[in-house]
This record gives sequence, structure tokens and C-alpha cells, in this order.
Amino acid sequence: MKRVTVHLAGKPYDIDIAQNTLAQWPLRLREISPGPFVLISDETVQRLYGKTMAARFNASDQGLLTLTVPAGESSKSLSQCDALYTRLIENRITRDAVMVALGGGVVGDLAGFVAATYLRGIRLIQIPTTLLAQVDSSVGGKVGVNHPLGKNLIGAFHHPEAVFIDPDVLHTLAPRELRAGLGEVLKYALIRDAELLEVLEEKLPCIMRLEDGALLESVIARCCQIKAEIVGLDEREQGIRAWLNFGHTIGHALEAATGFACYRHGEAIALGMAAALHLSASCSGLDQEAVQRGMGLIRALNPPPLPADVTTEMIFTHIAHDKKRRRSGQTWVLIERPGRAVLRDDVGDDRVYGAIEQLQDLSS
Ligand code: NAD
Ligand code: GLY
Repeated sequence: MKRVTVHLAGKPYDIDIAQNTLAQWPLRLREISPGPFVLISDETVQRLYGKTMAARFNASDQGLLTLTVPAGESSKSLSQCDALYTRLIENRITRDAVMVALGGGVVGDLAGFVAATYLRGIRLIQIPTTLLAQVDSSVGGKVGVNHPLGKNLIGAFHHPEAVFIDPDVLHTLAPRELRAGLGEVLKYALIRDAELLEVLEEKLPCIMRLEDGALLESVIARCCQIKAEIVGLDEREQGIRAWLNFGHTIGHALEAATGFACYRHGEAIALGMAAALHLSASCSGLDQEAVQRGMGLIRALNPPPLPADVTTEMIFTHIAHDKKRRRSGQTWVLIERPGRAVLRDDVGDDRVYGAIEQLQDLSS
């Protein structure tokens, strides 16, 4: 087992990463709290793993309420929160309850937001079941839902008490979802860990086939370690936490320009990183060899090409709506060399435009 600790002032928490341990999590939950527990998952994860977990709870005297939402991004909504609040109130769930988010980033963000707001906040434990959630969304405390006018616009910081990760559950994940999660893994390598970049270059096919559990465990642990380190230094994104948004400005614009219907989040981020690599070459001195190394891995992740009707102009317009845009202008996360990110607010629109145009080449 690997353990990573997120060092937050006053409230550190552990991320435990170990293969073939999902069945033991109910026991671990009981070590953390006597309950009662509210287990939230989506229909797919509930069918695959939730039932088994719930059965183990039922064997004891623990109070357990199981709530299930439809799979997919549309569950990250205020109306879904409202339905969940109703179930919690009807079942007289009190402030000593612990919310357990079992699922991908959608379930983690939704259940986390409900936990942050129900009765002014109840405790939360994250059990992420997609690679994206295991390396990113379950760690760091960002929780929230979408608004019809934009993604993740309603949210809170609400850290879990613990994160339990079992890489074995990735065996049931669709290959496309796995590749999307690897987009975020590549992000960590580019912003913070040149050695991880080498591991990806050497072993990406093996990682994608999930054939080496120890390797998978160590890659996930390394990503969690990087995120924990950054969040520990800058919990509220006043500075370096923005590094974690490498590729996200253009990635989010791409998701918005395609009506959130075309890309998995991690795929859009992979394409956003492709543009950000080119921008880094023109604005932060990244050499062409490094650009090509990053591009090689992005191609290997095989994100869907840009739809023919999505123009550079459309993506560029959506960047203006990015919620992270400050009044003074856009801050860009770029890299200077593999493993070294930098924040820049002096990037001209013409260079951004040029970098987005490179995505058209990637698609042709
Ligand atoms: P997701 O939660 O929709 O999961 C993808 C699909 O995989 C779903 O259909 C789900 O039912 C299924 N699934 C989950 N685990 C499975 C398993 N083990 N086996 C088989 N199927 C499984 O998507 P995601 O990519 O995990 O998360 C995307 C969300 O995460 C987005 O809403 C994004 O905004 C959010 N996010 C949040 C943060 C954060 O810091 N809070 C960071 C990154 C992304
Ligand atoms: N996913 C970016 C962050 O947690 O800050």
C-alpha cells in the first residue's frame, strides 16, 4: 500500500492507494467513524461495486443509506443536489453522518458539494473509481456542480477525511475513460515531474493495458503526491495551485465550444495541453524537442479530433468567458521545460490564436 498525506493546516488527511482493497473499505470507514454513512454513487458504479460494499455494511449494525444518481455529467446539477437533500432530510440524516462518494469525478464533485452544504457541512470520504478521479478530482477539496450557464460555477472547498484508492477497479472502466484520465497524469508529468514523463514514454502501452498493478499504483501515488504537495502549499488557488490548470483554459473552451457533448474532460485537457505546449514554445522558452515529446504522448492518448465546424475563432471566443480570467487579463499556465511550470500574464492574443490553430493540424 502507498500512503500520501495532504498537509493542510489543522486538517491533514491521507490518501491510501492499494490494489484489490475495495472490499476492505467498509472496515476502514468504520475505523474512521462509527457512522452513520451515506453512500452515493452513480448507477454504473452502484451496480459494479456499490452493492458489494453495501452488503458488507449490512453485515454490521452500521446505519447506511445508499443513494444512486444517473451516470454522466448531467447529474452534476443543483436539481440533483436538491433531490439528494430531500432524501437526506427524509431519512433524518444528522450532522454526525459521513458521506461516502463512490464513483468518478461526477459523483465526487456532486456528493462532495452536498456534503459541504447539507446541515452546513458533514464529513466526506472519497472512494474514486475512475483514473481521473483517482489522480485528480478526489484530492484537493474542490467540489461543485454545473450551472446552465457554465461548468463548475457553483462550488465549495470541502476536503475529504480520507481518500481510498483501489486501482483494480479500473479494469471495468471503458478504455476511453482510462485514456482521458491519463491526460491528467500527463499534466502532472509536464508541470512537475520529468521522471514521470519518462515513465509514460517508456510504459504508456503497458499502463493502458493495466497489466502491471504495481506500476499503476506507483503512477497514481506519484500524481496524488504532486497534487497533495501543491494543494498543501496553496489550498485556495492564490498562486501555484493554478499549475494544476495546465491545458485547462483551452481545454475548457473546447468543451464549451462543442457543447460539452464531444469530449471527455480529460480528452479536452489533453488537446488543451497540446495548444499550451505550443504556447510554451512561443512564450516561455520550451524547446521543440520537449514540445514533440509532449505531443507524442498526447497523440498516443488519441483524443477525438476537432469537429470540422469548430473554428479557432470559436475556441478563442470561449476563452474570454473562462471563469479564471482576472479583471487584469488572462493568466496562463505554461511550462519552461518538462517538469517546470510557470504562470504568465503577458501572453498576447495572437500567440494564443496561433497555438489553438495547431490543434487543427493535430486533427488533420
Ligand atoms: P464520470 O464520473 O462521469 O465517470 C465516467 C464514466 O465512468 C461514468 O459513466 C461512470 O459511471 C463510469 N465509471 C466510473 N467508475 C467506473 C468503473 N470503475 N468501472 C466502470 N465504469 C466506471 O467522469 P470522470 O472523468 O471521472 O470525472 C469528470 C468530472 O470530474 C467532471 O465533471 C470534471 O469537472 C470533474 N473534475 C473535478 C476536479 C476537481 O478537482 N474537483 C478535477 C478534475 C475533474
Ligand atoms: N483540478 C484542479 C484543482 O484541483 O485545482
